[in-house]
Amino acid sequence: MGNWKMNKTIAEAKQFALASKKLSAYASKNNVDIGVAPVYLGLSAVKEANPDLFVAAQNVSQFPKGAYTGEISIPMLQELGIDWVLIGHSERRSYYGETNEACNAKIHALIENNITPLYCVGETLSEFDAGLTKEVVKRQIEVGLAGLTASDVNNLVVAYEPVWSIGTGKNASKEIAEDVCHYIRGLLFDLFGDVANKIRILYGGSVKPNNIKEYLSAEDIDGALVGGASLDVNSYEELVRNIVE
Ligand code: PGA
Repeated sequence: MGNWKMNKTIAEAKQFALASKKLSAYASKNNVDIGVAPVYLGLSAVKEANPDLFVAAQNVSQFPKGAYTGEISIPMLQELGIDWVLIGHSERRSYYGETNEACNAKIHALIENNITPLYCVGETLSEFDAGLTKEVVKRQIEVGLAGLTASDVNNLVVAYEPVWSIGTGKNASKEIAEDVCHYIRGLLFDLFGDVANKIRILYGGSVKPNNIKEYLSAEDIDGALVGGASLDVNSYEELVRNIVE
């Protein structure tokens, strides 16, 4: 899943989606699900230009409608046929004060409406340095997913993104990434039982064409959430081809 963040105009998003049509056919032939998360304005252009891409919104309101200036609701995304929504990306947590509790409310609302939440967790550099990674991630998982049942999380996707590796080029080693993703799967098992083995866990943070395959070879890493390297269609294509080849 490519996270475009606040990049690409509608025209640029459409151009990318058109240019990725052959790639999505290649990906589906090889059993790889690929998608992008454009800004709200680019969602329908991407959907229309390439219906075979999974399309994710980068955020959503927990409320269905009302006096929430600047927000976008789930019914508005449903009208566009949006498949997934990123919840709790570290930039939303750190710049917009999004809490685990707010993530929990949004995840509940999405699941009630049959949209897949892609829930992002991960520790900051100071938490990593202090050895708090698992403690932080445990809280994010337990609070963010509180009140859900095993059948609710059937389609859930979780992304582990150490904040210190996002956009920094300092990616976590495969060993660190696998250790935390394995830990997350264990937490999910404790909360929901066997369905934990079906939940897709992605690694994110400076994933590039030259390291994606290594991450995906780890047992508990089922995919990648990619920022910078997903913006250029050639680099995106290289990411996908390098998974398969
Ligand atoms: P990056 O971003 O690949 O540019 O590090 C990842 C993300 O924020 O999801």
